[in-house]
Amino acid sequence: MKVDGTHYRSIWREGDSMTVAVIDQTVLPHEFRTRRLQHLDDAVSAIRDMVVRGAPLIGATAAYGLCLALDRERSDAAIAAASEALFQARPTAVNLAWALAEMSAALLPLPEAERLDAAWARADAIAEDDVETCAAIGRHGQDFIAEAWRAKGESGRVEILTHCNAGWLATVDWGTALAPIYRAHDAGIPVHVWVDETRPRNQGASLTTWELKSHGVPHTLVVDNAGGHLMQAGHVDLCITGTDRTAANGDVCNKIGTYLKALAAHDNQVPFYVALPYSTIDWDLATGVGTVPIEERAAEEVTHFTGRDASGELVRVALAPEETPAANHAFDVTPARLVTALITERGTCPASTAGLADLYPERRGRT
Ligand code: MRU
Repeated sequence: MKVDGTHYRSIWREGDSMTVAVIDQTVLPHEFRTRRLQHLDDAVSAIRDMVVRGAPLIGATAAYGLCLALDRERSDAAIAAASEALFQARPTAVNLAWALAEMSAALLPLPEAERLDAAWARADAIAEDDVETCAAIGRHGQDFIAEAWRAKGESGRVEILTHCNAGWLATVDWGTALAPIYRAHDAGIPVHVWVDETRPRNQGASLTTWELKSHGVPHTLVVDNAGGHLMQAGHVDLCITGTDRTAANGDVCNKIGTYLKALAAHDNQVPFYVALPYSTIDWDLATGVGTVPIEERAAEEVTHFTGRDASGELVRVALAPEETPAANHAFDVTPARLVTALITERGTCPASTAGLADLYPERRGRT
């Protein structure tokens, strides 16, 4: 996607060099800053500290992180140690484990002398594949928006609610939940997006607004608690979110607060779609409720807030009395029964074991 007229991806290689660059998502929307990842530790800390975030981008960063590690040592033990360090960086997005497994499968059968080149080639392929996958999600998801537009008699605009950031910043390009929105907008369907702020790290307020503004998509930022009211008042035609881990039965684990939006959508008969690449499906999990490990992050993310003051400085302020105990569960699981349909690169399907198995027959019976 474009930033001030220049095409960017969220992660890229600097020429043919063994350096990877990313957009520093911790300072957006206030600053557009890129960062170089030159060592394994740079990739680990970029994932852990959320310089990069979003399930598919975490996976691509892990793949490149392994390349950076191999630059120094290429033994089986070195690959296992680097994979473990990357795996431990964040627990919820299954793309991380998926990308590391893809890398190991490509590298371990090779002699050590061939592993470095093969690692870069496989990591580049994972990144390229994510771009194509998300573009396909956009094409399939656009149909639901077009359908909503027709249902409104092609008048007004299609009102869409989204949570967190599942746009191009969360993937390598295009995004998952936002890809259908970009496609519909580009195709001339008038859309308007209600953007949840997504406390406590505010990926909606900081990142989704920035993306949509950069692409010229009409949007309005709302507090996390507004979704129920907006749906009840008839201001939302459909919801689309992403997912960090999808169980084989269609339960979806996504940013904390997604479940509440799905409940409100269900109560108000608003379609609730979830967009995902195949790399987000955890075929080893038959169901998601109670089984997906949920990341718990620092209490300070809840008790404090970072923003830009009138002088342009980034400042951190306290919201709660000093030493207030705070819990920070970063994800929740929405049961499949609340999901109207899943939008994948292969097409759309019911959020169910049969629905996913029909789209991915090679995985049928895996759980
Ligand atoms: O904590 P984050 O910002 O990494 O969480 C990201 C999300 O929850 C996204 O919705 C999810 O990764 C799907 S993105 C394509």
